[in-house]
Amino acid sequence: MKTTEITIVVHEFQNIGELPENDQLLLNEARRITALAYAPYSGFYVGAAVLLDNGIIVTGNNQENSAYPSGLCAERVALFYANANYPESRVKAIAVSAAKNGILVNDSVKPCGACRQALAEAEVRFDSPINIVLDGLDSIMVLKGVESLLPLSFSKKAL
Ligand code: THU
Repeated sequence: MKTTEITIVVHEFQNIGELPENDQLLLNEARRITALAYAPYSGFYVGAAVLLDNGIIVTGNNQENSAYPSGLCAERVALFYANANYPESRVKAIAVSAAKNGILVNDSVKPCGACRQALAEAEVRFDSPINIVLDGLDSIMVLKGVESLLPLSFSKKAL
């Protein structure tokens, strides 16, 4: 038997002002779009902002549905819109924010498994690590690639 330890790297910041300027801008876009989410069932509002290599920022938020599984998370709304409209553009970064009752969540928001998989696809597709910024009032996490969010991921490399 062989045991391998896998390390993930998470950078933590106490507030948005500590982030590099590019990340601040992207996170502010995520915060702005969070307020426009359609989340009448969970009351959990999520916003995502995706930075493309052409400089364009695409935003999205969670879109819920009375038939619950028909809804979609903010990250995938933003990512899929970006991929649909700018299929040649590399995804450089994504910022995700979340709020309850109009107030940002305390703990940094963690993307669900399906969104992690979608991010992994975007990374492999353009063969370039995605900078991931996860918002929270007490802590903002920054990950320098999907590997730290979804280790041992499935990808087209296996097909
Ligand atoms: N949600 C997101 O938009 N992104 C995530 O990464 C986690 C969950 C949404 C889905 C649903 O509308 C609500 O948050 C509660 O799960």
